Amino acid sequence: MSVFSKVFPPSGALSPKRGSNLRLIILFTALTILLTASVIVVWEQLLRPPYFAWVERNYPGVENADYRNKLEQRVEHFFISMTVDLIVVSLLLAMVGRQQRRLVAANEQLAHSEKVATLGRVAAQVAHEVRNPLAGLLLYSEHLKSKLDGKAHNGEAQLVDKIITTINNLTATTEQILNYARPVTLAPKLLDLNTVAQDVVQLLSPEITTNAIDVELRLDPSPVAGMLDEPSIRAATLNLVLNAIQAMSKGGRLTISTGKAGGKLRLEIQDTGAGMSQAQAKQIFEPFNTTKSRGLGLGMPYAQKIIHQHGGQITVESEPGKGTQVRVELPTSGRNS
Ligand SMILES: Nc1ncnc2c1ncn2[C@@H]1O[C@H](COP(=O)(O)OP(=O)(O)OP(=O)(O)O)[C@@H](O)[C@H]1O
Ligand SMILES: [Mg+2]
Repeated sequence: MSVFSKVFPPSGALSPKRGSNLRLIILFTALTILLTASVIVVWEQLLRPPYFAWVERNYPGVENADYRNKLEQRVEHFFISMTVDLIVVSLLLAMVGRQQRRLVAANEQLAHSEKVATLGRVAAQVAHEVRNPLAGLLLYSEHLKSKLDGKAHNGEAQLVDKIITTINNLTATTEQILNYARPVTLAPKLLDLNTVAQDVVQLLSPEITTNAIDVELRLDPSPVAGMLDEPSIRAATLNLVLNAIQAMSKGGRLTISTGKAGGKLRLEIQDTGAGMSQAQAKQIFEPFNTTKSRGLGLGMPYAQKIIHQHGGQITVESEPGKGTQVRVELPTSGRNS
């Protein structure tokens, strides 16, 4: 790492380290000495001779010798101290400005994370509060439907059906929020990702057919198995594949591949759908970030939470108009930590 990059570390998360101030002071002192030496050399080699010649010309003779001396010394001191001061102050200002920008970025990130966390807590609280009344409403509505059976007008019966569908949708939404918010206790057992991939594709076959999507399963010929929590891994995979399908509303190709390498299990879901801009891809794991009219923005954060909890990694690569690839890596033996 160069001296310059040590004094001006690359911007990013603030990472205060022990002793970093002392290191900075040493570096800064060294830099100041180096600068002063360079300024003196420039003065001695380049500027002094023509300046002295000019003074000699304008104040000639023995009677001006004292004055000449004073003038030369004053200008020499003035030039050297002013130039060094200017450079040092500019360096300091640049450093302060840089630290300030990093601080502002870190504060914004913190405020954003706090906002998202508060939003999550409020949403989970609301979902929790409405869950039981919703269950009650469903019971009353179903009771009403059975009472009206055969007695009500067609329109009235349809209205009750609509109420029941709406309640079911609301229940599904509250369950999704609660699933994301509640802590997941993993119960790892031997699970083959090949089976998970096949089951998820089968489960989503109605959506795959509706969107006219070609499916290619490039599964490892041997089991891609590890100690994993089956329900949560299935749910996370379902979310990822569903996103891929929803991104290809006008058809496309869904490729799911699995494999093993270096003691890790790999699952890749690739689509040829709408893709995402860099800015969108950056926010993909933030809760409640959605571009869909009926989306909650919880599928990706949930998948990430589950994969991290297993000690795995999830990464996304996307190009607008070309498609998206989601890569999941999981340890074979459950949590690595
Ligand atoms: N494969 C993909 N291709 C393009 N965009 C995607 C893909 N996967 C995710 N996204 C983008 O990321 C956003 C967040 O995805 P996420 O699954 O978290 O929420 P959602 O699908 O909008 O809603 P839901 O909570 O129902 O899953 C999506 O709204 C979409 O804009
Ligand atoms: Mg989703």
